[in-house]
Amino acid sequence: MYRTNTCGELRMENVGQTVTLSGWVQRVRKMGGMTFIDLRDRYGITQLVFNQETDAELCERANKIGREYVLQVTGTVGERFSKNDKMPTGDIEITVSELNVLNEALTPPFTIEEHTDGGDELRMKYRYLDLRRDVVRRNLELRHKFCLEVRHFLDKENFLEIETPVLVGSTPEGARDFIVPSRMNPGMFYALPQSPQTLKQLLMVAGMDRYFQIVKCFRDEDLRADRQPEFTQIDCEMSFVEQNDVIDVFERMTKHLFRTLRGVELGNEPFLRLSWEECMRRFGSDKPDMRFGMEFVELMDTLKGTGEFGVFNDAAYISGICAKGQAVYTRKQLDELTNFVRSPQIGAKGLVYARVQDDGSVKSSVDKFYTPEVLNNLKEKMQAESGDLILILSGDDANRTRKQLCELRLLMGSRMGLRDKNKFALLWVVDFPMFEWSDEEQRLMAMHHPFTSPKPEDIPLLESDPASVKANAYDMVCNGVEVGGGSIRIHDAVLQAKIFEILGFTPEQAQAQFGFLMNAFKYGAPPHGGLAYGLDRFVSLFAGLDSIRDVIAFPKNNAGRDVMLDAPAPVAPEQLQELQIDLVCKEPNP
Ligand code: AMO
Repeated sequence: MYRTNTCGELRMENVGQTVTLSGWVQRVRKMGGMTFIDLRDRYGITQLVFNQETDAELCERANKIGREYVLQVTGTVGERFSKNDKMPTGDIEITVSELNVLNEALTPPFTIEEHTDGGDELRMKYRYLDLRRDVVRRNLELRHKFCLEVRHFLDKENFLEIETPVLVGSTPEGARDFIVPSRMNPGMFYALPQSPQTLKQLLMVAGMDRYFQIVKCFRDEDLRADRQPEFTQIDCEMSFVEQNDVIDVFERMTKHLFRTLRGVELGNEPFLRLSWEECMRRFGSDKPDMRFGMEFVELMDTLKGTGEFGVFNDAAYISGICAKGQAVYTRKQLDELTNFVRSPQIGAKGLVYARVQDDGSVKSSVDKFYTPEVLNNLKEKMQAESGDLILILSGDDANRTRKQLCELRLLMGSRMGLRDKNKFALLWVVDFPMFEWSDEEQRLMAMHHPFTSPKPEDIPLLESDPASVKANAYDMVCNGVEVGGGSIRIHDAVLQAKIFEILGFTPEQAQAQFGFLMNAFKYGAPPHGGLAYGLDRFVSLFAGLDSIRDVIAFPKNNAGRDVMLDAPAPVAPEQLQELQIDLVCKEPNP
């Protein structure tokens, strides 16, 4: 038997017992004639003591032990002389009588402590060591509990967990596919699913009624803190439902998860619902962070044509935010904000600011172009008071300027401490446009995906004005993060064909790519709809983390590489030959 107890479990009531523990060496300390070792496993840390006076030989062996050695020890539980109230096992220690080194260890490349000295790349290369750290392991424990609660909840609601294949054809979710060559079908490729979207719809045609799956999805897209090339969805679909039915189930699930895993009561009221249009107008984002206000105030009437400022007079859109109490911003801090909005990733031309002085007058960076009356109108319109700072952006494209102002709002929110990680603001964003124009592709694209149903009342507009059609789609947003999204689907082959046509598919192309779905719809497809949550995003919100990487055991870096496995990597020429693949680039081209 390797152990009688774990390293996290012994307390005062165990004093006097003989126990055997196994674990890793966190730390070795020598103090006078005593050697102390902190032994760690998944459950905690227990202090071991070796005494030079009572067993010199054993103590000598203990002195030779290094960090991360794997030990098995037997000894007696005793009360500690100097207790440590920061550790659950801090009242006791083990006086060791037998020491068995199960495995030696090289000195780890970084300290395995709460605050490690290891940088990101190093920790990812040795992720198995990083995972030994309490803080990282706790995230995986939370993820495990999250999945269990999801399964319990959905099981009670009659959902069946059904696996779908990983080697599939292309599923259009807006990203590029990862493709896998088929040896048995030379020149042909599988695609890894960007989501099981069409398969879950086929499960509805199959009469499964309520489906879910905690499932890996694969998308070849540019990575960010909240994006990984492979990530996990809680994917769900329901038959004979309307939008409100889907929203009701998943609102209850969300409240359940917050209650059981975070101890947060979200109350009995339904979550806020805002239309996509309203979100864009008030916050410049389809995933607004509602933990704080600082809403956009449109200033076209106030500032365009009311003074000599050419930039505003030429603008198609002018809008501002009011940062309460921030008139204390120095010139240097304002220059920093200006540099921020002008940075290539934001792309604004400049920033106009106005401070409301103690006497209520307004002092702005464009004073010389406007009369005090106009500046006073600005103050009134912004509902600004003494001590407030008004920040204004303008541009010739309203949507672009809104997005820029959104970034500024988020930055100010962070700086003003308004984005507390222990506060949660949830909402549904509804009434998305069905299509968006792609300059790159010069065609309309599905804003959600091509299987989303238009609002029934907008169906006639598909012919006359497709760009104005609204979709039966909804996103769940928490603290400015899109945690989930879904829609009511098209279940009619004719309407589905019409949507493919608007998206620029010829009937032949649509048949070749989606014939399986449209044909299935001819055999009695029930009305259906669903949604998918991003599990990694949801768990990282619960854990209060900025990046989803911290809740993934073996994540990829920003270049999509697994630096521990050193993947992707070239393959042997024989493997390529077998697949009948000839490479254009003869050298790996990272
Ligand atoms: P969607 O594409 O909105 O919808 O994805 C659903 C949710 O998955 C998460 N997500 C991601 N998480 C991490 N890394 C990524 N690269 C990534 N991409 C998406 C987000 C998102 O809200 N089939 C539809 C769902 C449906 O209509 O039922 C779909 O996949 O949290």
